[in-house]
Amino acid sequence: MTHEIVVIPGDGIGQEVTPAAVEVLEATDVDLEFVEAEAGDAVQEATGEALPQETYDLAAEAEATLFGAVGETAADVILPLRDAVDSFVNVRPAKAYPGVDAVRPETDMVFLRENTEGVYAGHEDRLTDDVSTLTRVVTESASRELAEFACEYVAGDDHDGVTIAHKANVMRETDGLFRDTVVDVADDNGVETDEVLMDAFATRVCLDPTQFDVVVCPNLAGDVLSDLAAGLVGGLGLLPSANIGHERALFEPVHGSAPDIAGEGISNPAATIISAAMLLEYLGYDDQAAAIHTAVEETLEDGPRTPDLGGDAATEDVTEAVIDRL
Ligand code: NAI
Ligand code: MG
Repeated sequence: MTHEIVVIPGDGIGQEVTPAAVEVLEATDVDLEFVEAEAGDAVQEATGEALPQETYDLAAEAEATLFGAVGETAADVILPLRDAVDSFVNVRPAKAYPGVDAVRPETDMVFLRENTEGVYAGHEDRLTDDVSTLTRVVTESASRELAEFACEYVAGDDHDGVTIAHKANVMRETDGLFRDTVVDVADDNGVETDEVLMDAFATRVCLDPTQFDVVVCPNLAGDVLSDLAAGLVGGLGLLPSANIGHERALFEPVHGSAPDIAGEGISNPAATIISAAMLLEYLGYDDQAAAIHTAVEETLEDGPRTPDLGGDAATEDVTEAVIDRL
């Protein structure tokens, strides 16, 4: 069976790391057909539109999309794209790898981030010169969907339960609803939960990340706390993510277009290659996905490494090394 994969490299290092991940996918025996589409600052400049309708439609119809990164147009591109794939959860594993100089080498956790609402629902207003407001949206249905996904996620593997990171002591209605719903669904599914206030989480995860395994959070908390975890494991070049929807999904590194190093060919392709492995897992090719994970792990341990990890290798060298190990 041939799977059609939409590939959106985007801007900056998206143009380097996305082709790298496609090369790795092509080196597997999975039958994939790639359809390239445009989005980001460059298309905006050329056409006035950061996310052409054609790109949106392709992502909305394909089984899976691989996205690199865009620049200043990120909010105009990635939020609608998550909507195009009808994504209700953003899966963000944060794991330290042997051989990588990490602040907390014992880190190994995954964030399951609500992906549609919270403060990113887009209800912001400028009322007067002095006053701006933001409406935070939390629904029982979206919280339930995330919680159901979390229960399935922990059932498949060796997990003790889920940690809910929230701030329901202050945001009683919104995070209260989120917390109560996740606890209810988990109880119904026989999944254990514990809770931590999101600010306390930030401290505790730095001091001892081994306390956490599967972390369920509202949208903004998941965004910020997973970037924090990226800092613990050796940088943004290592964090993959999956936006899972009901019938399709979009895979992307957590990082952005990195204008400070774009065009130099030295960006770390690991996050995007691991995102590609998650794409294969999503399509049901667990063995091929595992092979990519292992090849990336071995490459991170033995080199070559890009400058963000203290090495002097190019994106291409790392990509080739991963393919050689497949
Ligand atoms: P960034 O993730 O692009 O870069 C932060 C730092 O990490 C930079 O020093 C960069 O060189 C480094 N870095 C990131 N990925 C790397 C990789 N693969 N290899 C080596 N080093 C890497 O975040 P920043 O600087 O806050 O934003 C830059 C642009 O990216 C902005 O225009 C922002 O809007 C956009 N952005 C887009 C996102 C997306 O498309 N999903 C997500 C985050 C930011
Ligand atoms: Mg972010």
